[in-house]
Amino acid sequence: MNHPAMQGLDSMGLNTPAYVKNAKLVAWVADMVALCQPDDVYWCDGSDAEYQRLCQQLVAAGTFKKLNEAKRPNSFLAQSDPSDVARVEDRTYICSAKKEDAGPTNNWMAPAEMRATLQPLFDGCMRGRTLYVVPFSMGPLGSPIAHIGIELSDSPYVAVNMKIMTRMGRPVFEVLGVNGDFVPCVHTVGAPLAAGQADVKWPCNKTKYIVHYPETREIWSYGSGYGGNALLGKKCFALRIASNMGRDEGWLAEHMLILGVTNPQGKKYHVAAAFPSACGKTNFSMLVPPAGFEGWKVTTIGDDIAWIKPAADGKLYAINPEAGYFGVAPGTNTLTNPNCMASLDRDVIFTNVALTDDGDVWWEGMEKDSGVTPAHLIDWQGKDWTPQIAKETGAKAAHPNARFTVAATNNPALDSAWDDPKGVAIDAFIFGGRRSTTVPLVTEARNWIEGVYMAATMGSETTAAATGQAGVVRRDPFAMLPFMGYNMSDYFQHWLTLGEKLAASGATLPKIYTTNWFRKGADGKFVWPGYGENMRVLKWMIDRIEGSSDISQGEEHFTGVSPRYEDLNWTGLDFSAEQFATVTRMDTRDWRQELALHSELFQQLAYHLPKELGETKAALEQRLAA
Ligand code: GTP
Ligand code: SPV
Ligand code: MN
Repeated sequence: MNHPAMQGLDSMGLNTPAYVKNAKLVAWVADMVALCQPDDVYWCDGSDAEYQRLCQQLVAAGTFKKLNEAKRPNSFLAQSDPSDVARVEDRTYICSAKKEDAGPTNNWMAPAEMRATLQPLFDGCMRGRTLYVVPFSMGPLGSPIAHIGIELSDSPYVAVNMKIMTRMGRPVFEVLGVNGDFVPCVHTVGAPLAAGQADVKWPCNKTKYIVHYPETREIWSYGSGYGGNALLGKKCFALRIASNMGRDEGWLAEHMLILGVTNPQGKKYHVAAAFPSACGKTNFSMLVPPAGFEGWKVTTIGDDIAWIKPAADGKLYAINPEAGYFGVAPGTNTLTNPNCMASLDRDVIFTNVALTDDGDVWWEGMEKDSGVTPAHLIDWQGKDWTPQIAKETGAKAAHPNARFTVAATNNPALDSAWDDPKGVAIDAFIFGGRRSTTVPLVTEARNWIEGVYMAATMGSETTAAATGQAGVVRRDPFAMLPFMGYNMSDYFQHWLTLGEKLAASGATLPKIYTTNWFRKGADGKFVWPGYGENMRVLKWMIDRIEGSSDISQGEEHFTGVSPRYEDLNWTGLDFSAEQFATVTRMDTRDWRQELALHSELFQQLAYHLPKELGETKAALEQRLAA
């Protein structure tokens, strides 16, 4: 490397830039260099020039393909190793000192045992590679709610993705100063190179470990270069480690989008919504109101993660700790999410989508835009793909968990407050699973405890966002099952306690809703049109918050309050009362089975399970029996 920041090797051979003054950081980098034995150390400054240089380097290495500059300016395509395409939940560990503190929903190993396991894996793991020091801030730089992390990675792909996904670069060292604290994140693809050994385009290792030590707030990731396994600011830090910070300090780290919704009178509300992975957060956060909603506007604060803190005024304020979107590509098109498609016009890193013959990208769902499927593509595994091959073999052009990485500032619907360190005051929480049956379109909880119950017992069909079988219903409390950094029942209690505290201060608590956009008809197709049409449900929620009396408000049933057909605005959409019934009907037999699954969950989570949840279930069972 021949960059100014690299010149003047210091005595330890760490290439530490003169502006880095944090002794703890330098000592830690020295330790990690000694352990991982990279050939070189490079401190990222976060500049655009650096980004371009690293992207060029990735092109030269074969990891990136530069896309057609005329069609997709400043954009690149990476196609990963076929074995490294999603989060690895079965390889993800919460290594708290006590097993009970990780809880029954997490993999656990004693910290000393895990350290002993990782030591030989990390020993020399970066040989033949460069160690990138990636300084980043989750949240606006220098804001009192932001937290700093330093990721050491041997993946330049990680470095350029972190530049987009976080506030990354030299200013972080200024905030860190001499004594500032940071979350240390070590990442390796686990593929050291012997002298003269040629690299592959997507190095990784069959063995994978995604490890968190909550007490010491450390992250160690081995063997994967993909997404949440490798971009450690995201799930590892902003959810698993931050949930621990939040428990200790009285705030929330949630798998939630944050949006602003402004009505035609100019009044603005803020909603945070937790949907499991690949269940519609990015889509909902960029919603374009349909015909019949003239004058309504939805703006994006965040699409995946929310840090939420109570303020002196008794309200909950949310920020998006990220600075970019790592979003699902398949299914995205100008009909489902025009704002997202506009965000992707330029400056994008695509991973595992297909390549068109004219050097652009393609994925399943795009045919709905143009009406045509390309006659030939290079699929995500680098193979020829034609509609005929797809028909014969079922081969997907793009991997179902193919993703784009793009800066939030590319989003035309970006909220003006997205970067505001104060955050936005939350008026409502939504929890929404992917359920073909049983769960109705929308339900409002009658109170905070019922809302926590709904969130805690949420079920969802699994998706391609994690390795494993897609399409099986599992309980995914708060959409946090893969991201919870401590015992799930303690987390339920944390939510209940926060609600109690806010109520005691005389505050109006945000309303809590559950949604399900994914009910299917007898033909196996989604009945609810979804996407922009979800605005109809969002407006009903706003009506409820306002308590406006000019509309019918819905009706109470045994799990909460739901709208009747006549309670929603149907202008511009042809959706019959019968169709509405198919997405809202609550079958007693289905719900008996559903409650049995809640019981199973509560048995699993019995240790420290708040008694309020058992009481709420008992009351539900009674109402169902009545
Ligand atoms: P993560 O980034 O994994 O946390 O996912 P996400 O919750 O942001 O999911 P995203 O918005 O990217 O949506 C994932 C998939 O769900 C895409 O294939 C979408 O087309 C589909 N989807 C999103 N919203 C809807 C909806 O309202 N109805 C239906 N039927 N599908 C939807
Ligand atoms: C998710 O799986 O919920 C994601 C993608 O947002 S990843 O960052 O890979 O976890
Ligand atoms: Mn997510």
